[in-house]
Amino acid sequence: MKHIKEASWIRSPRNFLGSVTTFTREISFDKDIKKAYLEASALGVYAAYINGKKVGDAYLAPGWTEYAERIQVETCDVTAMLTGRDTVEIELAPGWKCGMSPAWAGNIKAKPVSPSLGACEAAAIFALTVEFTDGSEQVFTSGSSWLAERSKYLESGIYDGYVYDANFTDPEPLPAQEIFHTKDTLVDRIGERITAHERLPVKEIIITPKGETVLDFGQNMTGFIEFRIKGKKGERALIEHGEVLDKDGNFYRDNLRSAKARAEFVCDGEERLMTPEHTFFGFRYARLTGWSDGIKPENFTAVVVHSELRRTGYFECSDERVNKLFGNIIWGQKGNFLDVPTDCPQRDERLGWTGDAQVFVKTASYNFDVERFFEKWLADLRTAQRPWGGVPHVIPDVFDPDMFSSAAWADAVTVCPWQMHLTYGGSEIIEKSLDSMKRWIGYIDMFIRDGIWRVGRHFGDWLNLEHDSNGPCDVGVDKDLIATAFYIYSSELLIKSIELCGGDAEEYKANRQRSIEAFRREYMVGGKIRPEYETQTACVLASHFGISPDVAETAAQLNDLVTACGHLKTGFVGTPYLLHVLSDNGYAETAYSLVLREEYPSWLFSVKMGATTIWEHWDSLRADGSMWSIGMNSFNHYAYGSVADWLYGDAAGIKTDESAPGFKHIIFAPLTDGRLSYVKASIESRYGVIGSEWHTENGVTEYTFTVPEGCTASVILGGKTAEIGPGVHKFN
Ligand code: BGC
Repeated sequence: MKHIKEASWIRSPRNFLGSVTTFTREISFDKDIKKAYLEASALGVYAAYINGKKVGDAYLAPGWTEYAERIQVETCDVTAMLTGRDTVEIELAPGWKCGMSPAWAGNIKAKPVSPSLGACEAAAIFALTVEFTDGSEQVFTSGSSWLAERSKYLESGIYDGYVYDANFTDPEPLPAQEIFHTKDTLVDRIGERITAHERLPVKEIIITPKGETVLDFGQNMTGFIEFRIKGKKGERALIEHGEVLDKDGNFYRDNLRSAKARAEFVCDGEERLMTPEHTFFGFRYARLTGWSDGIKPENFTAVVVHSELRRTGYFECSDERVNKLFGNIIWGQKGNFLDVPTDCPQRDERLGWTGDAQVFVKTASYNFDVERFFEKWLADLRTAQRPWGGVPHVIPDVFDPDMFSSAAWADAVTVCPWQMHLTYGGSEIIEKSLDSMKRWIGYIDMFIRDGIWRVGRHFGDWLNLEHDSNGPCDVGVDKDLIATAFYIYSSELLIKSIELCGGDAEEYKANRQRSIEAFRREYMVGGKIRPEYETQTACVLASHFGISPDVAETAAQLNDLVTACGHLKTGFVGTPYLLHVLSDNGYAETAYSLVLREEYPSWLFSVKMGATTIWEHWDSLRADGSMWSIGMNSFNHYAYGSVADWLYGDAAGIKTDESAPGFKHIIFAPLTDGRLSYVKASIESRYGVIGSEWHTENGVTEYTFTVPEGCTASVILGGKTAEIGPGVHKFN
């Protein structure tokens, strides 16, 4: 940041709530330019244009943060765009600043972002600096010298989409209004830019049984539709977005709840190419109404938008269904890593749910380089955490003040930094997070009675199947049991973190041990979960978090439970560890059976039903084509995609070693299965690409491991361990 703090925050002098304001200024200079750059930020989202051309390639800048603490500044080189007589325009839209609290969660939270701005008002700040070859410079800063007009986007919102009137010109542009808002919260961008990625053509134009025209892009995705349109002056063309068709093949969008998710274009009779800004949609299908030009597939392109993340992980095997599942997981991550890790991208939610992020973080960090992405989100998490340690359910925190601290959700505080450390190797994120981890454990300590965390307000093993899937989502698995197990787990991560930073963790160790003993007394008999608490998830947590006095017995109990019914029953909390517990304890075959099962409930059931992303529920869409209730049914929810960390870590067998994190020392321990003839995976670590593959032919399996320069690895096969160095190694 150089000059932006010399600028003033500005807003529209008039209240067109929910619409977009354009700030315009003509600039001129006669000297030769050496360099020019635009620094810009907003409480809201902005897009900048010079002489009608978009500045930079970011969408929804400056992203979404805990505004009270930090607002990112985007800096773009504009040297090549300036001529000396230039029109500069900054469009400012409400974006995430307004209306981000869904109807069901109460109203916009009380915490005011700025005393000078209403809850639904946006503001911008920017500085255009032109450096000349003679060493002088000129800075054009936002202020009342800019003209503010209502833009052609008459409406714009994250949930509702937009209304764009090509005929509209504000009859009364007025000087922008300067407001007081602190500039101390401005920071250089710490996350990744949101940019456009794939451009998907129309796969099919469908005329539904109801006679509606629906575009199918063939992939559930997040982004927007770019379209070419002429139409007649004043004519309204409407696009509505949806993820699935209903069982009769009709367009369906009831699961978006109150989100209008529409794009409405008012034609001016000229041919236009509309590339929308300021919002995004989660969709595969689009219903079109009012297109008098006729509907030609070449006029529509679905543009995929997400944070600029480098792909690092790949997996394939001999079963195409599993490959499709893996592809769906990648799409799920693309769709929900849009500056903040969100639960879903389509309905009136799209929030940074801590639990979902915690469940998926390991998979996420193998698929893509998400270190910076999580660094930003975790900074907001620390900011939003209450001084006494409570952690809001969603980050940025837009809920009513009393919505926080569910077990397995708030534990994102410990789980996410620790995973960043394991995958990428650095300890800076741990140092930064240590205080917040301590405050979280300290918060739980206030509620611990005789070692057990009693009567918290938790989401339980969200969406598990230990009860009727139509019932409430948070029952079926005892909540105190989950809460106490996660307290033990988070304490373990805190203890490791403290020790990593050279501190003393004795007190936390004693408290953790006290809770382990209490858990055993309360919920277990020997190595087994007591009958009244017996669920798959209870066995999973007791085993995976090192609570059980006899993990072999608990895992056997889990294996019995799974094989007795033939399928998984776990929800958000148990699912990420279910397969690990099975395969770590000699039940790899059961784990593979769960992965390869395609009847409901299973991962491949959704694949069989034609899914192109991961569903929120095991039965979001049922075999008979009916759907889980409209109340909460997303078709792009990444949580269950956490199975990919087992595909990388166990099927392909690429594991981190906690004593040499960041894959400095790799553990290769692949698990073969007769139902697959090969598995192949790679993860690009900070040291280079790690590879593992195995092929079985005529009963003989050949393994190939690739170790990057600077790394070592242990290969564990058939109970024997071999140590290897950099290079490609083959084993039989
Ligand atoms: C979200 C979830 C989230 C949950 C909390 C839902 O509405 O979509 O993914 O974790 O609420 O239980």
